[in-house]
Amino acid sequence: MKVAVFSAKSYDQWFLQKHAIDTAIEFTFFETALSPETVALADGFDAVNCFVNDNLSKAVLKTLKSFGILHISLRCAGFNNVALQQAAKLGQTITRVPAYAPESVAEHTLALLLTLNRKTHKAYNRVKENNFSLQGLLGFNLSGKTVGIIGTGKIGQAVVRIFAGFGCKLLCHDPIQSEIVLQSGARYEPLQSLLSACDIISLHCPLTPETQHLINDSAIEKMKPGAILINTSRGGLVDTKAVIGALKSKKLGGLALDVYEMESELFFNDLSGEIIQDDVFQRLLTFPNVVITGHQGFFTEEALTEIATTTINNLLDFNSGTIKPENQIAIAPD
Ligand code: NAI
Repeated sequence: MKVAVFSAKSYDQWFLQKHAIDTAIEFTFFETALSPETVALADGFDAVNCFVNDNLSKAVLKTLKSFGILHISLRCAGFNNVALQQAAKLGQTITRVPAYAPESVAEHTLALLLTLNRKTHKAYNRVKENNFSLQGLLGFNLSGKTVGIIGTGKIGQAVVRIFAGFGCKLLCHDPIQSEIVLQSGARYEPLQSLLSACDIISLHCPLTPETQHLINDSAIEKMKPGAILINTSRGGLVDTKAVIGALKSKKLGGLALDVYEMESELFFNDLSGEIIQDDVFQRLLTFPNVVITGHQGFFTEEALTEIATTTINNLLDFNSGTIKPENQIAIAPD
């Protein structure tokens, strides 16, 4: 089986090749993202394998279908970049990796928060230059703070476990309540009351038409003055211009991001020698109370192993007609 892997970095190649030994899968790796301009590269393959920022729009899916490609395999959990209805119309199957070491993203969420709060990124650079002043490094204890978790699926639950260990009070919001979350002592709240009660708010729900710009001007208005917002889920959950306004007015006390709504133009590439054209992103970088990483929440040995093995199983299972239901995206009719 010939599989075209798009947006392939050296680590994708290493993990996929390692776990595909002794299988009938032959991977071809393309560093470029899948897009209307690059889709021609998929001609002659049996399946494509894509990541979070590959373009799986209606037009791209149609071209893939014209090449006879009926299986779009995602090596990620989120699928907001796929025109699902179009895939259903074309008879294409979309598979994904629904869970890969949820702790990888959960632990990164805490890494971001602790960096933002205790300013370890600034302290590290200061100490390197023999500057041992503590001026400007003041943080606060997480213990006793009220933390809001929006989305308590696999990652949200792992985040709840970690914050519970820090001695935080936990308020959660999710249309589906988890027994495990309730047993940890957390409480479910309507979104509005969660927003107004929390010192820290962390987003772990998927990006859907309903959650697009979940954090906008009106949501920020309801937040506690000085609250901290963390987004390690999908950039589109946050209206970036609204948070910039809230950072400028000091309504928001800090912002930690691993994802950004226009990240497909930036993340996963070394642009250190380029002039960045995204002025909104550049403005975000100017705030002393903003910490951003480039979508690396998933980037651990454990998660990459899980991604590679599940991806390979999905490819083989599609061929034998035995895809695990939880790995296939069920598409409701329009
Ligand atoms: P999951 O599917 O296990 O959980 C998502 C939860 O969000 C579900 O419990 C669902 O009921 C809930 N939800 C849906 N709509 C909601 C709403 N309007 N308000 C509140 N909750 C809502 O997904 P998982 O594995 O926990 O991943 C969560 C998200 O994390 C993914 O959708 C993806 O966008 C992101 N992610 C980020 C990564 C990174 O590297 N930064 C890596 C992997 C996932």
